[in-house]
Amino acid sequence: MNIRKITPILFTFVFLGISILYSQNKSVNYDELKAGPYSLPSIQTSQSGVIINNVQDWEEFRKPEILYSFTNHVYGRVPGVLDSMLVKITEQNGTYLNGTAKRKQVMLTFVKNGKELSVDLLIYLPISMEKAPVFLGYNFQGNHTIADDRNIFITKSWVPINSEIGVESNFAVEKSRGSMKTRWDIEKIIEAGYGLVTLYRGDIDPDKDDLSDGIHQLFYTKEQEKPKPDEWGTIAAWSWGLSRVMDFLETDQDIDHEKVIVFGHSRLGKASLWAAATDSRFAGCISNNSGAMGAALSRRDFGETVEVINKAFPYWFCDNFKKYSNKEYMLPVDQHMLISLIAPRPVYLASATEDLWADPKGEFLSAKEASVVYNLYGIPGLSSLKMPEPDSPIIGVVSYHLRTGIHDVTDYDWEQYIKFAKYNNF
Ligand code: GCU
Repeated sequence: MNIRKITPILFTFVFLGISILYSQNKSVNYDELKAGPYSLPSIQTSQSGVIINNVQDWEEFRKPEILYSFTNHVYGRVPGVLDSMLVKITEQNGTYLNGTAKRKQVMLTFVKNGKELSVDLLIYLPISMEKAPVFLGYNFQGNHTIADDRNIFITKSWVPINSEIGVESNFAVEKSRGSMKTRWDIEKIIEAGYGLVTLYRGDIDPDKDDLSDGIHQLFYTKEQEKPKPDEWGTIAAWSWGLSRVMDFLETDQDIDHEKVIVFGHSRLGKASLWAAATDSRFAGCISNNSGAMGAALSRRDFGETVEVINKAFPYWFCDNFKKYSNKEYMLPVDQHMLISLIAPRPVYLASATEDLWADPKGEFLSAKEASVVYNLYGIPGLSSLKMPEPDSPIIGVVSYHLRTGIHDVTDYDWEQYIKFAKYNNF
């Protein structure tokens, strides 16, 4: 055979082989037998070696240490405060679900250094309640994608191309209205007496490797183009955004602001945990399939690793975090400590059987390990120390379930979240 003819074919095969190997993430471990051994930093031992065994010492010494480590080594510090936040009610008295729900839309405008950024909130509230407890969480593709409701305003922010929902350029389109509705069981939420407050993640910070836009740029000094090494990445920016929504919710007479449960799926579940850890006004937190740098332990080598997440999504974290790629053992914290920062407030971590990338067992173990801090408060942690069977939720102050199925948010998940909210008197 002519060598000149087969060379390109050979190249193609080698290239294909490498691509397949790469895309299957051969370096990522899915073998339980290879997931350890590892040793976690102790939640209850302070940096100076003192054992922390009461709430006062926890709150005064250990909790601030852990918070500092996550802030400066993982998610990044928020560089300042806004000059002001303007509130504009863009729709006041809409109705939905045959009049059982009230719809409001609100635009928040952040002002800093002479620059502005606006975000749109979509709010559904049960008509039957005078002051409703609410679930608050980001959506992935724009408010208009969460329901077949033609009154929802379409975001003007950058959106990722997604032909499955009709988005062919970086502008949101009418065609994708309602396309993500299976992730938001609004009917069940309203029927159970809860409201829903949601906003598009990209209104706060577009999910792309470019920190020159979104909320980051409002805080830059004249010559600055990117955050300093210990300053916020995109996840911290999203969490910060949830706190600004909370600022508004505290002023809204229709909402019981003492019962705001912050919710998020996947990358947005990482943001919901960090929001609850940094802002005690969130009364509870739900993190659905949040995986690496969310609920899953980093030192357990299973599924997505620090190196992989740093390569694929470097902008999610502060620059300081880059040095921990392949060096999880050097991290001053692990993710069970993130959960412990939420104590004594109720927290729900959820996994899915086919979502091995997010390491369901690592997510469960975080809930289990964090339980010691709940115990300091005299509150029971996770009521079972054994990983439950699929679809056998453990509901309590610390809750966990492993749903059968893929990485997603389903009606089943929402049924459990509502039970969790009821159990905790929200
Ligand atoms: C990627 C990423 C995960 C993230 C997920 C998501 O898979 O690696 O860390 O949770 O996207 O947000 O859907």
